[in-house]
Amino acid sequence: MRSTASSASKRGPIAIVGAGLIGRAWAIVFARAGHPVRLHDMDLQTMQNSHAYIEARLNELAEFDLLNDAPLTVLSRITCVPDLAEALRDVVLVQENVRETVEAKIDIFSRMDALAPKDAILASSTSWLPASKFTKDLLGRGRCVVAHPTNPPYLVPLVELCPAPWTESEVMIRAHEIYTAAGQSPVVLSREIHGFLLNRVQAAVLNECFKLHEEGFASSEDIDRVLKDGLALRWSFMGPFETIDLNAPAGVSDYAKRYGQQNRETIHSENAFDWSESAVARVHDERRQKLELEGIALRSAWRDRRLMALAAHKRQAPNS
Ligand SMILES: NC(=O)c1ccc[n+]([C@@H]2O[C@H](COP(=O)([O-])OP(=O)(O)OC[C@H]3O[C@@H](n4cnc5c(N)ncnc54)[C@H](O)[C@@H]3O)[C@@H](O)[C@H]2O)c1
Repeated sequence: MRSTASSASKRGPIAIVGAGLIGRAWAIVFARAGHPVRLHDMDLQTMQNSHAYIEARLNELAEFDLLNDAPLTVLSRITCVPDLAEALRDVVLVQENVRETVEAKIDIFSRMDALAPKDAILASSTSWLPASKFTKDLLGRGRCVVAHPTNPPYLVPLVELCPAPWTESEVMIRAHEIYTAAGQSPVVLSREIHGFLLNRVQAAVLNECFKLHEEGFASSEDIDRVLKDGLALRWSFMGPFETIDLNAPAGVSDYAKRYGQQNRETIHSENAFDWSESAVARVHDERRQKLELEGIALRSAWRDRRLMALAAHKRQAPNS
């Protein structure tokens, strides 16, 4: 995608609307990249708590050498702003992170459209909702876009940029430039699709994992191992297309000639997993044998520290 030297690349102020799990993480991304960040939430307590949370994450990032500035310098770029109009004043981009319902998104986007500068991009972190569901009636609908992050975005850089039918191409170019300059790895969809790209790929993998488990072929632990000790080791450096390109001497078409038929026979759409309560419960119970619910926060913190080590490693050995 063509990149232009717009005001966006000059590290203008960015508003984060909704300071929950994802909003706080976005604040880290943009402040780390040098943007002044205005963090807004309708819940004052949430905003107050976010400060200590962000400081702790910044200290961890510094430990792994993943910050260019001192944690307190990055933290000083983030201001909690209880008034929405004040939070949106002079911003180049608003990153919306309120709860995942069409009603909540319609409400907050109509207020953001009324209050933000006319040339500011209005981006939603929505995981599943196409922007056309909540921006149709806005005067400024041409500047609205989905920018779906991967949790946590300060460690996992993929951002899915998905336009509504009325999103202006200039907005897509500018959004791409802002996220790239902030250290993210944006991908651009040509048009809307339910679940965008990442959640569709994840849904396909989950579908097969649940089916294999439901039919008793292996334990949930061993099926997890297929990814973490197998496929995902390569996938953290290259995608499935590049993987198969390297797995046959003459590349993808050679792979297809050798293994295409077996792949076709493996996948039957009538085999789609139905997400039945009983089958999900069996995996849930197996997981609870390994990890009690109370341990999830600690395990998530462990995951994030492993991701930091991986991010630090990948920074030393760029893969392209
Ligand atoms: N959690 C994930 O892994 C993940 C990953 C990618 C995208 N997302 C998307 O990000 C968005 C936020 O998810 P989350 O997990 O951070 O949710 P969350 O519940 O942790 O945070 C939502 C925050 O929004 C605030 N809020 C609600 N309505 C508001 C309003 N009108 N004005 C200001 N603040 C308001 C709430 O007080 C809360 O603090 C959702 O659309 C979700 O689909 C989540």
